[in-house]
Amino acid sequence: MYDRFNRRISYLRISVTDRCNFRCVYCMPAEGVPLKKHDEILSFAEIAEIVRVGAELGLKKIRLTGGEPLVRKDLPTLVRMIASVDGIEEIALTTNGIFLPQLAKPLKAAGLNRVNISLDTLDAEKFSKITRGGALGDVLKGIDAAIEAGLTPVKINFVRIPGENEDDEKAVREFCERKNLQLRFIRQMNLKTGEFDAVDGGYGGICEVCNRLRLTADGFIVPCLHSGLRYNIRELGIRQAFQQAVEFKPEKGTGTESHEFSNIGG
Ligand code: 5AD
Ligand code: SF4
Repeated sequence: MYDRFNRRISYLRISVTDRCNFRCVYCMPAEGVPLKKHDEILSFAEIAEIVRVGAELGLKKIRLTGGEPLVRKDLPTLVRMIASVDGIEEIALTTNGIFLPQLAKPLKAAGLNRVNISLDTLDAEKFSKITRGGALGDVLKGIDAAIEAGLTPVKINFVRIPGENEDDEKAVREFCERKNLQLRFIRQMNLKTGEFDAVDGGYGGICEVCNRLRLTADGFIVPCLHSGLRYNIRELGIRQAFQQAVEFKPEKGTGTESHEFSNIGG
């Protein structure tokens, strides 16, 4: 699939749930967000079918995200279903890491290639403050589990939070060098105003080469994180929703009231 700006669309980021066991300050309000009803959320069979049609249209890479994707029950089963789709070359996962000690090996066995784990500080107190109650030690165990399971290269997402974690960059950098982790710095984004930057060390946020679409947990294809456009799979059908999303993918993002990080997964 090529869009109007000759960008080849080959990457789909799938939000498998809007739930999360953390409440990171840059992602969710303390009290959480109104959650989608169970019957609005796509089933594994629906997601797998969307990937199958998407692969026919040229998708090659899938990322599973959330919310926190690993709070969705039995995620390795979904990974296995996606991995069996012809044309899909890579499956990655963005996670807070908490459930990786139990799930890294089953995910790898199901066909997951690699993980991105969020880590904005190595100071346990600050970590708990940023995530509103998360335990740093659990995430560190998750990182080790990912390495051990071979979900490599393991990437670390560090969100730069002004006035909060500037001093933590150095420690995280050293930690990543020691453990052979690839580190990406992300500036805290504001979806409402469309304030965003290129991801330091990744391809996110560079509109000229943006090859991605997003699928929300309740079945909308979203062509741009910083635009309100979205196409309902259940109303339009899978192929039509993909085709319209590609046809109307904006040249660059501007800002929108309609998406939240908590349901689009960054
Ligand atoms: N700005 C930038 N990145 C964000 N993420 C979540 N909210 C924001 C935000 N406001 C990213 C984090 C996390 C991933 C799930 O989404 O990097 O690792
Ligand atoms: Fe959960 Fe990730 Fe949002 Fe934090 S950033 S609240 S871990 S989804």
